Formats: sequence, structure tokens, C-alpha cells
Amino acid sequence: MQILTDIAALRAQIAKWRRSGEHIGFVPTMGNLHGGHLKLVDEARSRSDRVVVSIFVNPTQFGPGEDYQGYPRTWAADCEALRDHDADLLFAPEVDALYPDGAGLRTCVAVPALNDILCGASRPGHFTGVATVVTKLLNLVQPDLAVFGLKDYQQLLVIRRLVRDLHLPVEIVGGAIARESDGLAMSSRNAYLSEEERRRAPVLYQTLQALAKRLEAGASDFGALVDEGLGELRRAGLEPDYLEIRRAADLGVAAIDDTALVIPAAVYLGRARLIDNVRVHRS
Ligand code: PAJ
Repeated sequence: MQILTDIAALRAQIAKWRRSGEHIGFVPTMGNLHGGHLKLVDEARSRSDRVVVSIFVNPTQFGPGEDYQGYPRTWAADCEALRDHDADLLFAPEVDALYPDGAGLRTCVAVPALNDILCGASRPGHFTGVATVVTKLLNLVQPDLAVFGLKDYQQLLVIRRLVRDLHLPVEIVGGAIARESDGLAMSSRNAYLSEEERRRAPVLYQTLQALAKRLEAGASDFGALVDEGLGELRRAGLEPDYLEIRRAADLGVAAIDDTALVIPAAVYLGRARLIDNVRVHRS
């Protein structure tokens, strides 16, 4: 596996692969790789001749007081895992390389329809930071396809939207949510949980699953279901940021006759902010 930090070197390697007609798959990450990330790498591997992974802890998507400085950085283990999963190239630029004029946003990419709702409401500017860095990375790597996890459902929709609106020539693939054996979605931020908090954390997924079952069985009082779910979370000592029933296609407010729904939620638990979602199909 090649490791490159330099943009010119990356462009040269990508150009070589492109000239020989190789199909390039890309998985952007912030490192501290776990089974969820590695499943995305496997997905890219199965669909491409060359697999590029990026590790870049992107300062512009962290708000003031968020965990940018303390974000877990596990370089050696990440490199080993990526070699095991047969990645061809790891791109790990310094902040100065992607933001030569400093990490304040100069030109930025925003997706207004999705910016201010759900996670965007409690993390102002977050999705503009994500959309901007992903646009930069897609321009640098020029992949045929890029894989993003369904765990960050709103992020996936932001990226699909920007790719469509900016006519970027890349296929966006959504990768399934990887979970621990007790159902907790894998996340770098799970490391912030104490042992006792870790035992309570699976209640988030259990609550979403229970609501999904009720929706699938035809329950139609969305407000009552959401209240029930919020109650479950609070009883378990999880502090909900939000839990909602939304349209899967665009995260718009769901109506009773919508068939493709998603239940996204975010909770605070100790130092961690955990997110998860479950999709629901109603006939
Ligand atoms: P990061 O949190 O490192 O996640 C990288 C990718 O892994 C994202 O597409 C995310 O949705 C996916 N992922 C994380 N946990 C997952 C899980 N349990 N199952 C499946 N996929 C999972 O998301 C980011 O980085 C950044 O915002 C980034 C897109 C790299 C832009 O900076």
C-alpha cells in the first residue's frame, strides 16, 4: 500500500491508473478505523480495480468546543488494517495541504436543504465542513465510486445531493451499518464511553428497532411513537438530542402515507454524542 501526503504525488498516481483504464474506488475517513470503516473498504475493493482510502481529521466540520483536538488518532493500527484489507493507496494530507490559507472556510460547499435540520441543528456549520472537504477529496482522487456509511445517514444524503447538484462524475454507494454484537453501531466515539455507559448505549438501537417494528405493523401516530422513544431513551439515562420519523429520500417530515421512512436519532451519553438510524418500509 502506498502512503501519500502530497497532492501532486496523489494526482500523478491517479493519472497513471486512469490512463490504464483502471476503475477507482474511494473511501474517505477520519481514521481510528473500526469494522464499519473496513466494511466500506471491502465494498470498494469488491467493485474497483484500485482502492484509495483517505485519513484526514477535517477541522472545518468540528464546532467550537467539539472534539477536534482530542479526536482519536491511531495511525499505525489504521495502516495495518488498511494493508490487511488490500487498499492500494492511503492519502493522508496535512491540514495545510487541503486548506493552504488556514482552516477557516474560504470557498465552501453548502447543501441548504439539509444543513440546519437534525444533526445540523445542533452542529451549526458541520455539514458545510463535510460537504467542502468531501468535494475537495473527490476532486483530488477523481474516483469512479465513493463509499459512505449509512450510519451517518444525513451525511450520505448531503453527499448524494452535492454530487447531483454539482454534476460530479462519481457514483455514491451507501454501505450498511456495522454493529457490535449487542447492536451498538460501531463508532470512533464509542471509545469515549465509560464501562457503565457502554452497557447502556445499546438502548439507542433497541429503541429505534422497537419503533420501526411498530411502524411496520401500521402504527400511524408518529408523534406518540416519538414521545415513547424519547421516554425509553431518557429512562435508560441517555439524553436525546433528537429522535424523529422522517422520509428516507430527503429527511423531510414524514406523512402517514409515505412508504420509505427512516428514524434518525442522536443522544448524549457521558462525553459521547452517539447517532444511529433505522430505515422502515411500509406497504
Ligand atoms: P468517519 O467518521 O471516519 O467515517 C468515515 C466513513 O465511515 C463514513 O462514510 C461513515 O458513515 C462510515 N462509518 C462510520 N461508522 C460506521 C458504521 N458503524 N457502519 C458503517 N459505516 C460507518 O464520516 C466521516 O468520517 C467524515 O465526515 C468524512 C466523510 C470523512 C469527511 O470528513
